[in-house]
Amino acid sequence: MTDLTLRADEEISAVIEPLKHLPGALLPILHALQDRFGHVPKEAVPVVAKALNLSRAEVHGTISYYHHFRDEPAGRHVVQLCRAEACQAVGADALWAHAEGCKGEFTLEPVYCLGQCAIGPSMLIDEEIHAKVTPAKFDQLTAALRGAK
Ligand code: FES
Repeated sequence: MTDLTLRADEEISAVIEPLKHLPGALLPILHALQDRFGHVPKEAVPVVAKALNLSRAEVHGTISYYHHFRDEPAGRHVVQLCRAEACQAVGADALWAHAEGCKGEFTLEPVYCLGQCAIGPSMLIDEEIHAKVTPAKFDQLTAALRGAK
């Protein structure tokens, strides 16, 4: 085991320890790990499973079930597209398919309602909301990210 792995393991344990005795500790632990590392590192799965006496599959299943959790570091920008019903009715599925085909310096994530249902499809780029997003508008907005920090 390298020093780096050892340090990561220690940091993972330091996040888990104070929370593991809470009732329903899995979600608070996953949130805390993502807050600390920006994602839930795959190395954390066996450590969490052991601490909570769960199987690795159960921990992994929870991470996959909740769209909020990511298992790898996010890109420099996070683009969240609304996939809920009202936005779906005005083209969010086609927009999602378009977005998935786009390469860029961003991580694409689904969200389920951004409270802007009347002016969908809705999208967040790094917490900034955009409405009535078409594929062309998506291209324009994400192209602007290239020069942005
Ligand atoms: S359904 Fe998309 S913002 Fe509400």
